[in-house]
Amino acid sequence: MKKMVMMAAAAAFVMGAGMAPAAHAGGYNVKKCKACHAVGKDKVGPAWKDVAAAYGSADALAKVFKDGFKVEDRKVIAANGKWKGKAGMMTGQYKKLIKGHEDEAAKALFDAVAAGKI
Ligand code: HEC
Repeated sequence: MKKMVMMAAAAAFVMGAGMAPAAHAGGYNVKKCKACHAVGKDKVGPAWKDVAAAYGSADALAKVFKDGFKVEDRKVIAANGKWKGKAGMMTGQYKKLIKGHEDEAAKALFDAVAAGKI
């Protein structure tokens, strides 16, 4: 299942790159997330491949960001309660780096997973 989600994310990335309208040109600075996240392993925060698997699509993640990224809406915490104690840390990052850029941030996360690195 996880593998299928990953493949779908990868396929979406390749298709997106192929069509490449200029809308996202310039890009979102996802490097700031790197302090705490990696694609394939947990660091301070959860591995982004697990985040992508939990949300399924960039649109689904963007929606949770736009709805205020409430702790009870966070799917990684719902899947694994060990992250709950660190929710406040991610809330601070959300306010600083994601709010106002919800679509770009969600897309950047899925693109990083498809590329295998942040
Ligand atoms: C200071 C460390 C830190 C930085 C920087 C950081 N994160 Fe996180 N992130 C965390 C921690 C800790 C968690 C686990 C708590 C949680 O899930 O809310 C997390 C969880 C997440 C989740 C899963 C939320 C859930 O539970 O469903 C997403 C999505 C996410 N981060 C995206 C990002 C993005 C995008 C950036 C860069 C804009 C970023 N993070 C930067 C620490 C960080």
